[in-house]
Amino acid sequence: MRFPQPRPPIFTFRTLRALLSKTPLIPSIWQSNMSHSAMARRLSGKTIVITGASSGIGRSTALEFARTAPDDLRLILTARREDRLNEVMAEIRAEVGPGVKVLPVRLDVSRSDEVRGFVGGLPEGWREVDVLVNNAGLVKGVARAPEIAEADVATMFDTNVTGLINMTQAILPIFKTRPDGGAGDIINIGSIAGREPYPGGSIYCATKAAVRSFTDALRRELIATRIRVIEVDPGQVETEFSVVRFYGDQSKADAVYAGCEPLTPDDIAEIVVFAAGRRENVVVADTLVFPNHQAAATTMHKKS
Ligand SMILES: NC(=O)c1ccc[n+]([C@@H]2O[C@H](COP(=O)([O-])OP(=O)(O)OC[C@H]3O[C@@H](n4cnc5c(N)ncnc54)[C@H](OP(=O)(O)O)[C@@H]3O)[C@@H](O)[C@H]2O)c1
Repeated sequence: MRFPQPRPPIFTFRTLRALLSKTPLIPSIWQSNMSHSAMARRLSGKTIVITGASSGIGRSTALEFARTAPDDLRLILTARREDRLNEVMAEIRAEVGPGVKVLPVRLDVSRSDEVRGFVGGLPEGWREVDVLVNNAGLVKGVARAPEIAEADVATMFDTNVTGLINMTQAILPIFKTRPDGGAGDIINIGSIAGREPYPGGSIYCATKAAVRSFTDALRRELIATRIRVIEVDPGQVETEFSVVRFYGDQSKADAVYAGCEPLTPDDIAEIVVFAAGRRENVVVADTLVFPNHQAAATTMHKKS
């Protein structure tokens, strides 16, 4: 006769987590966020810089990284509006707890001197950057040549192009000290506007086309390294983007989205985090993302 053999207790991750959640040392709201997916394991321990993290896609990207790897992550959040960065930091802390360390840094990417001092100004323990998300960017106006304000041309090029290039050049030396020629991720937020120029957007489109050229050239330049160069090109996303375009006029911004269902900034954030969370040999090099009603830069279906 065979008797069932006594079996050692089996501790799956689920039971361990259930046990842990009974300990008062770690609040249960943060326990429920503990994630050990392959993506969480790959991102865990990384230091991530996000430009333009005070709003829209940058803010959502910060939150999405935090949710995906809540146990051990460092996020360096940069933008000009420090108060907004502090709000994002508080949101992250409330949602995922202390496993994600956040460093808000006031930084105007259009100022070459500020970008030059950025890495040197980071505190000890924050300089080993693994991922740079070049997201800061803007559009000003809908003027057509020859009516385009000189100041708007300068702001768009200084921010979207020179700022992105300067940030990349500031971080790349850190990546290049690593084995195999270097390692790390550069994720550039381009736009459908960089692929398809449209009337009233000539300067913005030119800046995003420049981002595209720089990104493609960089990927080729870094071919003998393990550095991943990634571009994500959104179509229409509802953020503060149109409010900035119309110099703060909310009603003009609202009219852009009337009758449409634009993407949310979270939609783009999920794609950025997905790209960063792939196995190191996988490069999601180039992604174009539309909402369902959009098929080209200016081909949209409006319901009314
Ligand atoms: N929304 C869309 O439809 C759309 C479509 C395609 C691509 N994109 C691109 O997505 C990126 C993010 O835009 P968004 O839609 O999220 O717009 P958003 O809500 O206006 O966010 C733009 C971010 O860029 C930052 N920024 C602007 N100028 C800066 C500067 N000189 N230095 C540092 N940070 C600066 C802003 O922060 P501060 O003002 O605090 O500095 C803000 O955090 C941009 O590159 C944009 O071109 C947007």
